[in-house]
Amino acid sequence: MKGVVFNYLAEMVEEGFGLEAWDSILQTTGLTGNYIASETYPDEELMALVDAAHDKTGIDKRDLVRSFGKYILPNFREQNPQFFEAHNDLKSFLLSVDQMIHIEVRKLHPDAALPEFEYQDKDDSEFTMYYSSPRKLCFLAEGLIEASAEHFGTKYELEHPECMHDGAERCALKIRLLD
Ligand code: HEM
Repeated sequence: MKGVVFNYLAEMVEEGFGLEAWDSILQTTGLTGNYIASETYPDEELMALVDAAHDKTGIDKRDLVRSFGKYILPNFREQNPQFFEAHNDLKSFLLSVDQMIHIEVRKLHPDAALPEFEYQDKDDSEFTMYYSSPRKLCFLAEGLIEASAEHFGTKYELEHPECMHDGAERCALKIRLLD
């Protein structure tokens, strides 16, 4: 993952729990915390930081990763407003993540660690995003979806009936839009 992602994690923990909490998390992992935004660092470092943040705060890892997704989306939006401006609604935005947004990200950063999404578009108000990635950050996707829904002012229900963490080959993120 890119250094920028680690820097957002540091920011979120520092805002929520203080600088000292982040220092203690770094100490537990033995990592320096010096991340250059555009450089790539091992995924294992992110996982180790999430484990240590869980030990420090007692917050469930899935909730931590979900909150992190919620936290980074507004930052992505600030950096790339065009991806949001191109859409009037949540569904059209989410359908663009795999073949538009992440494609553009990949052009700029060929070594970016990106997931794959396949879509099943059932009807106007229901669709499924099938997530696959060796990083198994499906809860990050849940948080990114939650913040995207807030941006578009959309209420929805999410189900996650198949999950890579339970041995599934990919995760199914089923989204039902409410009125
Ligand atoms: C403007 C919107 C977005 C931008 C600019 C963006 C860009 C990025 C970038 C830069 C990364 C990290 C790459 C790396 O560190 O090497 C990433 C990862 C990721 N993105 Fe997006 N993204 C956007 C929206 C979304 C949305 C809405 C979702 C979910 C529905 C999503 C799902 C993910 C996931 C789950 C990862 C973690 C990597 C993995 O699971 O393998 N992204 N994205």
